[in-house]
Amino acid sequence: MKVIIVKDYGELSQRASFMIADALKRKRPFVLGLATGGTPEGCYRELVRMHGAGCLDFSHVITFNLDEYVGIPPYHPNSYRYYMEEKLFRHINIDRKNIHFLNSMARDLEAECQAYEEAIKAVGGIDLQVLGIGRNGHIAFNEPGSPIDSRTRVVTLSDETRIANSRFFSSLDEVPKKALTMGIGTILEARRILLLASGPTKAEAIKAAVEGPITPNVPASFLRIHKDSTFIVDREAGCLLGSRDGNENF
Ligand code: GLP
Repeated sequence: MKVIIVKDYGELSQRASFMIADALKRKRPFVLGLATGGTPEGCYRELVRMHGAGCLDFSHVITFNLDEYVGIPPYHPNSYRYYMEEKLFRHINIDRKNIHFLNSMARDLEAECQAYEEAIKAVGGIDLQVLGIGRNGHIAFNEPGSPIDSRTRVVTLSDETRIANSRFFSSLDEVPKKALTMGIGTILEARRILLLASGPTKAEAIKAAVEGPITPNVPASFLRIHKDSTFIVDREAGCLLGSRDGNENF
């Protein structure tokens, strides 16, 4: 695994967007796995800026988002679908039929999850998966305890995650208790993984994921077994990591 420690959130967003843009230019079609949350917002802003400047084409890009809250319709401002529209999709030239989202309003959620796995396989798998990290080490909505071979499924959110994400809602009560998420096994099948973490609230999770035992208690620690995963963390998120002797690779 490669860990890149950058100065601040601005640099993190720029490095991440350069990596994504570079990858998108090398393969057609390109399957991009996307994350939501506060962390990737700056990166998406940079991608939109590059597109606006005429240097980044999305016409060949197929996207799959990681997760969605159960019971929040796609047009609701708290849905991840809405987030993606606002932060990225409506600003770029992506073909709408290439956007994939878990439909958390589906009557049969198990069937919806199964169909999502099949849709990912049908396009040849994910080329690059962008991830954030929860304060408890979760990735997507794979909470501590999630098995390494877990697949796309319905999950119950931990109190910690609901409290952390309540900042996007008007009250904690409004934060759904369930979500649909790609599994750890699904995520690990992506050919490349890029995890972003910013700020002091992520420092313990980053330390545990990078230097602690590889364990379901810290789902992000499973990324260490992937052959092409990169963490870009800012100084605050990386402040508990041991000395790297200026070496970005380890
Ligand atoms: C949510 C999402 C995750 C995201 C995490 C961290 O729980 N399901 O995909 O990584 O929040 O979000 P933030 O970047 O806002 O800290």
